[in-house]
Amino acid sequence: MSITRGFTTTIGLVAAGALALGLAGCGGASADPDSSAGGDGDLTTVGFVAVGPEGAWRKANEQNIQDTFTTDAGYELKYAPAAKLDQKSQIDAFTSFVDEGVDVILLSATEGSGWEDSLTRAQEAEIPVILIDRGIEPDNTDLYVTRIAPDNKEVSASVAEWAQSEFPDGAKYFVLEGPAGVSVVNERNEGWDEVIGAESTFEKLGAQTANWSTEEAKSVFETVLKSNNNDVQMVFAQNDEMGLGAVQAVEEAGLVPGEDVKIATIDGTKNALQALADGKLSFVAEYNPLFGETAMEVVEKVLAGEDVEPYIIVPSETFDSPEAASEALPERQF
Ligand code: AHR
Repeated sequence: MSITRGFTTTIGLVAAGALALGLAGCGGASADPDSSAGGDGDLTTVGFVAVGPEGAWRKANEQNIQDTFTTDAGYELKYAPAAKLDQKSQIDAFTSFVDEGVDVILLSATEGSGWEDSLTRAQEAEIPVILIDRGIEPDNTDLYVTRIAPDNKEVSASVAEWAQSEFPDGAKYFVLEGPAGVSVVNERNEGWDEVIGAESTFEKLGAQTANWSTEEAKSVFETVLKSNNNDVQMVFAQNDEMGLGAVQAVEEAGLVPGEDVKIATIDGTKNALQALADGKLSFVAEYNPLFGETAMEVVEKVLAGEDVEPYIIVPSETFDSPEAASEALPERQF
């Protein structure tokens, strides 16, 4: 069964395919309504400080943004992927966009911290900043207009709730995390811990980053299986690639993924849904990357001087069976 979790939160509701932009108090600055953006046929310039090559989710998300902000739609999108996930290259690109005087900056931060100076400079230049996917830490909502992303804590909690239902008597589990310092990693840990942390029947064997990587996750989990004599019932992998690495480790240990060890992941990419359809993954929580249209609607509102919610939640669904995965695969866009 696939379940769409359209989360109503105190900070906003996003209906799939449409955008309910509340006019409630905004968490950040909105642009000057007299801004030159989008004037007499000139293009609105958008500086996209992006992550760059990182995996299937990132590719889908950044391609969707680029496919949306086209010249036909009235935009000049300046795409600046990080050099090897390096934050300094992002800060340099961010600074260049401020100096150039772009109309708006989209930021997908490789690191959660270290953005105060850059964001303050953009604010002083009256250039609105919209966070795409990743948050900043500490989360000072005065330094940006809004963040557009699925709700990481909700998505992660959906994995924990599945684990509770799958293991009514508890389980020994391991967590494969994304890189340290990335905002969504902390949010996913929070979402999981708020549900499972209170469950005394669940035993956390440990957590380790595998840097969103299949190969690294395979290596990490091979070691975990050996050091626990294969006595691990579940893996919470914070993205699909790492979950698929855990599958490989389970198989190499002579165990059956989906039976001896159940693996749950976040993202909802094609490869993960295929693995779920094949019974190798047991649960996949989508972290919907396709929100370019929403981002464009938000940019238009912000440049028109309208307030938007400080966090715009992108709806995501979950997949808890091979049948649900098989049903979704033919139309899957990422
Ligand atoms: O920030 C979103 C995360 O970054 C995705 O879950 C992961 O696959 C990507 O690398």
